[in-house]
Amino acid sequence: MNKITNILITGSKGQLGKCLQDVVREKREKDEIPRFARNDKEQIQNYFFTDIEELDITDICALSNFVYDNKIDCVINAAAYTAVDKAESEPMVAFDVNGEAVWNLAHICGEQNAFLIHISTDYVFDGTATIPYKPNARTHPVSVYGESKLKGEKAILFEQIPGIIIRTSWLYSKYGHNFMNTMLKLGKEKENIYVVDDQFGAPTHAHDLAEAILNIVEQTDTITKPTIFHYANEGITTWCGFAKEIMKIAELPCTVHPITTAEYPTPAVRPAYSVLDLSKIKKQFNLKIPNWADSLRNEIG
Ligand SMILES: NC(=O)c1ccc[n+]([C@@H]2O[C@H](COP(=O)([O-])OP(=O)(O)OC[C@H]3O[C@@H](n4cnc5c(N)ncnc54)[C@H](OP(=O)(O)O)[C@@H]3O)[C@@H](O)[C@H]2O)c1
Repeated sequence: MNKITNILITGSKGQLGKCLQDVVREKREKDEIPRFARNDKEQIQNYFFTDIEELDITDICALSNFVYDNKIDCVINAAAYTAVDKAESEPMVAFDVNGEAVWNLAHICGEQNAFLIHISTDYVFDGTATIPYKPNARTHPVSVYGESKLKGEKAILFEQIPGIIIRTSWLYSKYGHNFMNTMLKLGKEKENIYVVDDQFGAPTHAHDLAEAILNIVEQTDTITKPTIFHYANEGITTWCGFAKEIMKIAELPCTVHPITTAEYPTPAVRPAYSVLDLSKIKKQFNLKIPNWADSLRNEIG
């Protein structure tokens, strides 16, 4: 039986954090997460949504006190430094938030018996593969952001706490700065845009990931040691393919032209191929994962 009752969500003003708030609200409306115990045996779940103003994950004392004071038994770490290009020029901040703070978080979770659900990235891979990366595939980041996220993963594995690392890819949602929102804006402003067509991956709707995470919260008792999983939407495309689908669904009169990575230089190197193999997470938690284009249609359509 799952005993999780007090769940801390860090970084809850980010796009995944906001989607987690949405999914909790939707589940409450459907009474799938009861607000009040309806009988003596029913346990209610309390969600503590925090972001940097309420709880800075780099502040080890604040973190430890928060977990202790609120009897937190599960932490969903959606907080991160996610500015991939900026990380190249301010690596210290990226390593503080994505590496050092995760180390502290893992340690606190270990000390206080809290289950940790940590989110990581496809950018821990170098992109030289030609078939989807399995969770145990060799990591080799090619950017500071990827390096910093790998450091966080290693900390959790080192602490040997019960918890999971979910690597995901190309997250988008209606919230904040992300590829879909940028394309929707450009699609209204321009007749032609040029998008990289030689990087392969899977766009992932943050709402789908949030649903999967809350599903996993109900099944944490199946995990006894830190375990890596991959979650993305099903299917493969390129950024150009993603952009074309956005324009098509949104019915925007903007032509998307393919270009190469070399024609669109960025401070951080991106993996040319970062498709994740999803079989482990689907099997372990009995998840059905939507195709990326179907989820995109649900979001925009
Ligand atoms: N976005 C993607 O395409 C993508 C792809 C693969 C994996 N991921 C991973 O997925 C997770 C969620 O990403 P996301 O796109 O939702 O990120 P996001 O929108 O950037 O949200 C991250 C949140 O964490 C907050 N934060 C930053 N430093 C913090 C600190 N020290 N303490 C507490 N909160 C802090 C941020 O606040 P500020 O905005 O004020 O900094 C922001 O609200 C991350 O682990 C990310 O690495 C993302």
